[in-house]
Amino acid sequence: MEEALAEMLDARKSVVTERLLDAMRYSLLGGGKRIRPALLLECYAACGGKRPETAMPAALAIECIHTYSLIHDDLPCMDDDDLRRGNPTCHKQFDEATAVLAADALQTLAFELLASSARDTPLSGELIYKLAIAAGCQGMVGGQMLDMQADNSNDDMGILAVERIHLHKTGALLRWCCEAGAMLAEADNAQLNACSRYGKAVGLLFQVTDDILDVTASSSVLGKSAGKDAVQNKATYVSVLGLQRAREVAEEMQELAVAACEPLAKQGDHLRALVHYIQERGK
Ligand code: IPE
Ligand code: IPE
Ligand code: MG
Ligand code: MG
Ligand code: MG
Repeated sequence: MEEALAEMLDARKSVVTERLLDAMRYSLLGGGKRIRPALLLECYAACGGKRPETAMPAALAIECIHTYSLIHDDLPCMDDDDLRRGNPTCHKQFDEATAVLAADALQTLAFELLASSARDTPLSGELIYKLAIAAGCQGMVGGQMLDMQADNSNDDMGILAVERIHLHKTGALLRWCCEAGAMLAEADNAQLNACSRYGKAVGLLFQVTDDILDVTASSSVLGKSAGKDAVQNKATYVSVLGLQRAREVAEEMQELAVAACEPLAKQGDHLRALVHYIQERGK
């Protein structure tokens, strides 16, 4: 993934303004865990896909969308963070305008990558459509709006409201990864359903774990500022349920995700391992 991401940006050197490409590269190659591409490629393999290179444009695309969402999430008008992936945030390293534009560029680049893979995968129209839904106002962006509104509200949030935020701001993109991997492998209905259910459970598990780590881990380990959610009065699983109950929810989501792998039999082993990694990760 690291090499493929770097090559993909390098290939645009002659056509993209240097400062813009520098900021895109700074954030994209800044050391993410690459969980979304991993989910996509492992769902592809679990559904019997044999040519991972056909899934690479989608794997690159989702990391571009995710990185754009992080750059915007860190802006002073949003979570106002100084640290991301162990480095100064994009707007700190460059400036706000450059960060906004680098994120915009990464977002459209994702769709360019998917669209230009149309020759290899007739599916790409469907993948583009589903990604637009998952990333946009009905998905991640909508969830970020709910997240921003929640931290400005004095109302006590219920757990269903927090679940709604998480399923949108984080879950939608993770689910897309799992469904896209299955679709690219030409999965049958049982496999597609398995990946979709897995993606939904993992999506929630991922953000619950992020909420837990925000209170239990240090900034140096996380590579981003710890303890921010409480300071900013964020609606999280920990703020609404407490740490203990949030851990129990994570456990339940882990069980749901593993159970969803059942129809994939032995081929789902890597997906099962990824669930454990996502829950037990230290950052
Ligand atoms: C952080 O995502 C933002 C959330 C949706 C919780 P990751 O934890 O996947 O961040 P990177 O890509 O590894 O930096
Ligand atoms: C971010 O959620 C979700 C996104 C869509 C980026 P957070 O605001 O909790 O992510 P971190 O903790 O800053 O990585
Ligand atoms: Mg946020
Ligand atoms: Mg944030
Ligand atoms: Mg967080």
